[in-house]
Amino acid sequence: MEKLEQRILQDGQALSETVLKVDSFLNHQVDPQLMYEMGTYFKRYFDKYNITKILTIESSGIAPAVMTAMQMNVPMIILKKSRSKTLKDDIYQTTIHSFTKGVDYELTLSKKYISSQDRTLIIDDFLANGEAASGAIRLVEESGATVCGIGIVVEKSFQPGRKKLEDQGYDVYSLARISKLEKNLIEFIKE
Ligand code: G4P
Repeated sequence: MEKLEQRILQDGQALSETVLKVDSFLNHQVDPQLMYEMGTYFKRYFDKYNITKILTIESSGIAPAVMTAMQMNVPMIILKKSRSKTLKDDIYQTTIHSFTKGVDYELTLSKKYISSQDRTLIIDDFLANGEAASGAIRLVEESGATVCGIGIVVEKSFQPGRKKLEDQGYDVYSLARISKLEKNLIEFIKE
């Protein structure tokens, strides 16, 4: 998505060789028009799957996910980062390890909002090691629903997330694919 790449170059900040700061339009302040246009791209790519539900992980995936859900005319579900360690029987729950933040957290999905008939699309803001997406996949598949694809706003292609997901057979579509980050340098994979 050319416009997103331009925005990353204009407003993004490479903090190191692994971390890109995009607080001004995605992770803190949100540009709704840009989010809407992301939704248009995701809808165009994933329309072939007859998606019935879009899932995202709180909190930065919510804006692009809801814009996509609006355009695909389906509900969006927010996977919650619950602190509860006790398993309840009305939720699906899985533990995720974040390499970027060096913490474990629980991801939960209420059984009320998903059924085995659902065809789902998972949308998230960043793809790094693929841990969050893998956890979301575990929750969906535990319910018997189908994961049709994974839509990512910013993929850090030099980290192993995409390969890990593709090796398991998932269709990964990213709006911006970063091949290299260095202080004050951001390079993209051109499709
Ligand atoms: P992974 O799921 O691909 O393995 O990624 P990881 O656990 O390492 O990422 C954990 C958190 O860090 C996620 O946010 C993810 O969006 C974010 N993240 C990863 N790499 C970057 C980066 O280069 N820049 C920025 N800005 N964020 C990055 P989160 O903890 O779920 O927070 P939230 O913002 O969604 O609330």
